[in-house]
Amino acid sequence: MSWQAVGIFDSGVGGLTVLREIVRVIPQEDTIYFGDTARVPYGTKSPETVTRYAHEITSFLVRRDIKLLVVACNTASAVALPSLKRSFPIPVVGVIEPGARRAVEVSKSGRIGVIGTAGTIRSSAYTRAIKRLNPEAEVLTKACPLFVPLAEEGWVDNQVARLTAVNYLQELKDAGVDTLVLGCTHYPLLKPLIAEIMGAGVVLVDSAAETALTVAGILGQKNLLRPVAEIGNQHYYVSDIPAGFIRVGNRFLGGRLGDVYQVNLDEDGEGN
Ligand code: DGL
Repeated sequence: MSWQAVGIFDSGVGGLTVLREIVRVIPQEDTIYFGDTARVPYGTKSPETVTRYAHEITSFLVRRDIKLLVVACNTASAVALPSLKRSFPIPVVGVIEPGARRAVEVSKSGRIGVIGTAGTIRSSAYTRAIKRLNPEAEVLTKACPLFVPLAEEGWVDNQVARLTAVNYLQELKDAGVDTLVLGCTHYPLLKPLIAEIMGAGVVLVDSAAETALTVAGILGQKNLLRPVAEIGNQHYYVSDIPAGFIRVGNRFLGGRLGDVYQVNLDEDGEGN
């Protein structure tokens, strides 16, 4: 057993969809969430830059004595996971592998669609993870960058969202995928619309939900889970003023966000 917290980070507010699932699956755990609101979005940035940001944030969280790190951001998971695993002495869980595993499990035809940010799709991380599990799988990918601002704006079922979604998704639908991986933190908010456009025959895989189950499994295996009777606390840090994070975050979490603290990563850890 370990009383240390689970660390989670994202480029901003989107990773709260992953946090929500973690709290649902292992409510006894304390969590420390870091949203890099000063530098969001990651989806448009180079792998080198995103990897540098990921290392800075992980150092911050490790200084807060976490027992496991969840890289909730798909873009950061896609480009920075191996180097984080090499550099830090705690278990590091990304969202790509759990989502890929679930997609391979549920796909009957082996034709799997993946949607994500430009950075995630460019990295081919989902395609590699899926093909490692099923070399026969056919993976069709599509970057859907406008889904991020739409989700943050709360435009998840109006005309603009619908037109955008049809534009992005029609080719995957026409290609006959039977499974679609929602490979971005923000996309679970658009799930009802995406499901409607893709049709009843297509299973949507939510990487956030699969990641939470993976985290619970690893903590269980390593005997690091807190007793189930406990009720965990959620702590939040951001790198820009918290107002926007609180406003959008309450929508992402359903109004349960606690205190949010702003930190300067350049100054944190100085003198330690
Ligand atoms: N969190 C990012 C992801 O899951 C989406 C937002 C961004 O581009 O930073 O890829």
